[in-house]
Formats: sequence, structure tokens, C-alpha cells
Amino acid sequence: SGAQTADLVVFGGTGDLSMRKLLPALYHSDRDGRLSPETRVIALSRGGLTDADFRGKVDAEVRDRVPADDPAGWRRFLERLHHVSVDVGGADRNGWQALAELLAGHDDRDRVFYLASPPRTFGPFCRELEQAGLVTPRSRVVLEKPLGHDLLSAQRINDEVGAIFDERQIFRIDHYLGKETVQNLLVLRFANAFLEPIWNSLWIDHVQITAAETVGTPGRRGYYDHAGALRDMVQNHLLQLLTLTAMEPPARNDREAIRDEKVKVLQALRPISGTEVDRFTVRGQYVEAADMPGYLDEPASTPPTEASRRVETFTAIRAEIRNWRWAGVPFYLRTGKRMPYRRSEIVVQFKDVPHSIYPGGTPNRLVLRLQPEEGIELHIMAKAPGAGEVALKPVPMSLSFGKTFRARVPEAYERLLTDVLAGNPTLFMRRDEVEAAWRWIDPILSTWETSADLPEPYPAGTTGPTGAHELLGRSGRAWHEEEL
Ligand code: BG6
Repeated sequence: SGAQTADLVVFGGTGDLSMRKLLPALYHSDRDGRLSPETRVIALSRGGLTDADFRGKVDAEVRDRVPADDPAGWRRFLERLHHVSVDVGGADRNGWQALAELLAGHDDRDRVFYLASPPRTFGPFCRELEQAGLVTPRSRVVLEKPLGHDLLSAQRINDEVGAIFDERQIFRIDHYLGKETVQNLLVLRFANAFLEPIWNSLWIDHVQITAAETVGTPGRRGYYDHAGALRDMVQNHLLQLLTLTAMEPPARNDREAIRDEKVKVLQALRPISGTEVDRFTVRGQYVEAADMPGYLDEPASTPPTEASRRVETFTAIRAEIRNWRWAGVPFYLRTGKRMPYRRSEIVVQFKDVPHSIYPGGTPNRLVLRLQPEEGIELHIMAKAPGAGEVALKPVPMSLSFGKTFRARVPEAYERLLTDVLAGNPTLFMRRDEVEAAWRWIDPILSTWETSADLPEPYPAGTTGPTGAHELLGRSGRAWHEEEL
């Protein structure tokens, strides 16, 4: 293959993300011939493992997550793996020395530093790399979310990383952008003629973007108490979906052209602040129901605090985009833990026909399903078979990517790692994008934080607090629900 040889250095390389997502994705890339034979994966942690220890750990923990049909290929993959123990910001320089030795003589390779570690380590880690003389012109850095906890902290991280790497070398991951349906959204919109003319406020009533999860937060309270659904899911994933749904057609399929259009959408979001926060946003927290614990009863290493009581595990927001295309079209965003189903989708709800000649019609709806089972469904009205009076019935025209293409649908991280290794940042967030998203989120967060109210309780396993239904119900709309 023509793949460039690279050294991929993963900080936090023995952690959960690495074991669950990155290494399986890299193995798939390897199988598909997208890694050059010399490409190496170098995990960094404080763990004191040898290469052999690390390979053994990956063999034990990752092998079950990937196809087992090529044992020789799997062994070759393990040979690519290395481990170096490092101490960030500490006195012990041995690890950095060892890393420098491993990388020495390979300055001509692409070098990717993947920071799968908490954001407070991003700045210090980049400074260590620079001090150890490891940042070459062919280096890139990949930042995992969360990128800060508000605008100010995001700017600080961007400044710290930006002091060492140029913006073109910085790849900020949002794994939703790697999902197959998300990339298909752009192809659907911009490689077909029939949608774009009706993709506006004349024809579209509203848009719903939902990321519903059945999982709770067992063992994650330490992180989640200070994150909450707004920071964890909306600031990044849901707003990214919103930008791709709403953006203007770019002139070229080009990294900057696409990201320029996305930023414009974020900048056109109508700010929600002050008393409007109560009107346009809803927050909820799941409580015990049936056999499921509430958020405060989830297993955790420490007892719940005031922060735990105040954190939202569900949020719904009515957003508006102030431009010609979208004026007056609400974009409803919704995400939550412990909902009755796992489903992420974008629902475009069209207006009713201008003049109806049949009784009983319902307006068209386009559903872009990210998961489970990636696909696209257009709900249209059809005539129910029969010789009697014409009866209308909504039927789905449906496309399942898996079935249509008879191909394995790659995981988000596979696409994104491939792009990082190829140096293509189109599906990564540019600095101004991340900051524009925080600028919109900040006033909502600060209003919630100073509010006397707690999140509305909702029983675990339900579709969220009543407020979420009222948010649409008061304008005669309803959430698109799965038939259970
Ligand atoms: C992560 C969040 O970014 O996305 C998690 O931190 C969430 O809380 C996850 O569960 C959802 O990702 P996916 O791909 O399962 O929809």
C-alpha cells in the first residue's frame, strides 16, 4: 500500500479508550492494508510495563474485540506495539530519554502524538515533547475531548498546545464526525439534486437531533459530576451534527471550505441566556426505577456530593439558527443516559402539504440514523392497497448501509485514525469551531450553575423528564419516538 510510515505515540496508551477503541481500530486498519509495514504504535503511561508486558495486555484485552480469523496477522500487529513509561512534569527524565531513543533516526516519518488523557495534561505533555526535542515538522497532535470545561479553559488549552504546534498540526477529535452516517449526510445533501432545494424554512418545520443511551454512569461519577450531558454530549457531538445538517454547501470538498461553513452555523446560533434558559432548555437526572439505580446510587468510589445532585444526565434544548435558510425553524437537541433505547439520529420534519385533498395525511420526515444500524429513512405517504375509498398510510423508504453495501461499516475511530495518519483534518474541529461552540454553551451552563433548582428527576429507563416533552408540546410538536 502507499501508506506513509508513521510513529503513533499514544499518551494514555494503556487506558480505556486505547483498549476499547484505538487499538481495535488500528488492527482493522492493519488488516485492510492501511498501515505501512514499519508503522509503530508506542503507548505511554506511568505503568512501568515492558514492550512484552504491553503486548501481553493487548493480547489479553483486545483480541476478543477484533476478528479472530488471522492469527498470524494478529501476531504481526502485536509486534508493532511498544511501551514507554513516562512521568509528565516530574523529575524523572528516564522515560523521555527512552522515548527519544526509540524515535531517534526517524525524523523523516510522520509522527503522531495522540493525547488520550485528561485535558489538564495536554499543555504539560506538549511542553515535555518540545523539551525532549521530539516535535518535528512532520509531527501532529491529536486531542481527545473534553477540550476544556468552558470557553476560558478551552482557550487556555488551545493556547498551550498552540504554543508548540501550528493549528495545521492540531487534530481535535469528535468521534461523532467519524460515524459513517455523519459523513453520508454531506454526500446525501451535496451529491444529490433533490434535497437541497427543499432544505430550508420554506419546507422544513423543525429538526430533531437525539443521542439516547441506555447506559448509566456506573464508575464514572468522578468525571461525570463535573461534566454533565451538556458538556459531555451537546457542546461537541450534538452541535457537530447540527452544523453538518444546517451548513451551506461548500464550494469544494476541502478541509477549510467545509470547516468555514460549519463555523458560520455556530456563529449564527441565537444565544440562550438569562430568563430564556428556563424556557428553551431542560435538564434532568435519572432516579431509581424498576431494577435500575438512580444517578446518585450508581456504584462510585466516593459518596455523592452537591455537584452530583446538581449534574444533568439528560438535557433538551430548543436552538435557533439566525440566517436566511433557517429563520423560524427550531432545532431540538436531546441527549440522556438511561433512556429506554440506544439511538442516535437526526430527524428532519417537513411541513404539511400546502393543500390536502385526502384525509389523514401526515407530513414527510427524513430520519438519518447514526446508530444502531446506520441508515436513512424517508417517511412518505402512500395509498394503502384496496379498491374502496383511498386511505393514506405513512411508509418508510429505507436504506440500510450495511445491507445495501454488504460491507462492514467501520467504527468511527478507524476513519479518524486513518485521516490523522494521512494528515487530513476535515473531520476534526478547528480552534474557532470549538470556541464558537463553547461561546454558545457558556451562558446556559452559568445560568444552570447559579439556579436554585435541581435537574428534573426522570425514572431510569424513560424518555426524560416531562419538561422535555413540554418543550415541543407547547408548539404542538412531539419527539420522534421508537416504537417500543
Ligand atoms: C462520549 C461520552 O463522548 O460519547 C460518553 O463521553 C458517551 O458519555 C459516548 O457515552 C457516546 O458515544 P457513542 O459512539 O456510543 O454514541
